[in-house]
Amino acid sequence: MPAIVASAPGKTILVGEHSVVYNRPAIAVPVHQVRAKASVFALPKGQPDQIVIFAPGINLKANLSALPNDHPFAIGLHQLKAHLGLSHFPSFEVHIHSTIPRAGGLGSSAAVSVALIRAVAQFLGKDLPNEEINQLAYMVEKRHHGTPSGIDNTVITYAQPIFFIRDIPFEKITVKKPFTLVIGNSGVEGLTAKLVAEVRARRENDFELYETIFDQIGGLVLSARQSIETGELNKLGTLMTENHTLLQKIGVSCPELDHLVDAAISAGACGAKLSGGGGGGNMIALVNETRAEQVCEALKIAGAVTTISTQILSSSPSIP
Ligand code: PMV
Repeated sequence: MPAIVASAPGKTILVGEHSVVYNRPAIAVPVHQVRAKASVFALPKGQPDQIVIFAPGINLKANLSALPNDHPFAIGLHQLKAHLGLSHFPSFEVHIHSTIPRAGGLGSSAAVSVALIRAVAQFLGKDLPNEEINQLAYMVEKRHHGTPSGIDNTVITYAQPIFFIRDIPFEKITVKKPFTLVIGNSGVEGLTAKLVAEVRARRENDFELYETIFDQIGGLVLSARQSIETGELNKLGTLMTENHTLLQKIGVSCPELDHLVDAAISAGACGAKLSGGGGGGNMIALVNETRAEQVCEALKIAGAVTTISTQILSSSPSIP
């Protein structure tokens, strides 16, 4: 029997990280150049619930029963089983591959969860709607990352640009003019859960300042949405750079990210900012397509360990 394959893209947050945890809006977009993929094969001779998981990228080959209960793969599969009301799984082997860098703010963990849940559900003959896949992936994120807003699993499940406010249905954004983002990896590990916890502690000490900054970021996000919907890309770039300044104020940037942001702007980007939890990980720059290569080069010279250039369109290309 051929494998059942499902995949999910990476993502980047265009504007609004951190403040989104406190119910302000944010915009996230899929990054299709990097993906997580899960392939499921039946094991006809296996016993019920005999599940073999093979993830060479993290040196894992194990039976599901041998994984700790709080391993993200175990959480995802146990949640799926409960959701489908199954007493046991038929035996299968699942191969997981991801080209999304880990701890970089590109949604690696959420993409693996979405691909895994979607592939195994399809293998079981259940074509789950995105809404259910998203909820299941969110449960994994919550068990694993403290207090996630849910933006990562949502943009990755639906694989299109979204306007997101925590705990309310997201809205799809219409992209009037496709635009190009260059993503630069600082090479410094960004630990989102740690950064989110640090912001929470600082906010408790300086509540009014943090609420004011979050409101300012919320305002930028509303303007950014309008710029995307009207195709005013220079304005969008300016808003992104302003967002970076506010993220610096809440203490989530680092010298490496600031240096990359400055280098992108000096090389002609319309705007740039850190993206995701910060403290390391990736930054993004909005560029005129003709300048993408020049900005990638400038980022490499400024210390980026990898760069990705991606186009943001209104709808996603059809990839399994
Ligand atoms: O997973 P990351 O690093 O892209 O960051 C997620 C964005 C935060 O706003 C910092 C956290 C969250 O849960 O929304």
